[in-house]
Amino acid sequence: MPPISLTVDEMADITSFLYFLQFTPPPGDPERGVLLYINSGCAKCHTPSAQEQNAIGPDLRAKGPWESDIDLAREMWNHAGNMYGTLPAASQEWPRLTEREVADLLAYVRAIGGTLKKEKKEK
Ligand code: HEC
Repeated sequence: MPPISLTVDEMADITSFLYFLQFTPPPGDPERGVLLYINSGCAKCHTPSAQEQNAIGPDLRAKGPWESDIDLAREMWNHAGNMYGTLPAASQEWPRLTEREVADLLAYVRAIGGTLKKEKKEK
C-alpha cells in the first residue's frame, strides 16, 4: 500500500477534529442543551433566538438534520473559522464548555436541526 500523503493543513484539521470528538460523549440532554445554547451565546447569532431579524448566523432549524453528534461536530468545525470571525460583531467570546455541556448542547442543536425543512415538506 502506498504511504498516505497529507498536507500540513490536512493533518492539522484531522488532529483537531479527533481532539474535538473526545468532547462528545453520548447521549446529551436537549432540555439542558437549550439553556446552554442561550447562555453560551449561540442564540445571539443564530435563530431561533430573541433577535431573529439581525441574526448574524444561519437559522439552525433550516440546517441539518445531523445524523449524529459527529456529523454536527464536523459541520461546526467546518464553519468554525467564519463563526470565530463574527464573534467581535456579536461582542461574544467563544464558550468554554465541559464534556457534559457539549453533549447537551449538541443534543439540543440536533433536535432543532432540519425542523424547518421538515415543516415545509409536510405542507
Ligand atoms: C458570533 C456569532 C456566532 C456565535 C456566537 C455562534 N455562531 Fe454558529 N455560526 C455563525 C456564522 C456566521 C455561521 C455561518 C458560517 C459559515 O457559513 O461558514 C455559523 C454556522 C454554524 C453552524 C453550521 C450551520 C450549517 O451551515 O450547517 C452550526 C451548526 C452552528 N453555527 C452552531 C453554533 C452553536 C451551537 C453555537 C454556540 C456554541 C454557535 N453556533 C455560536 C455565527 C455564530
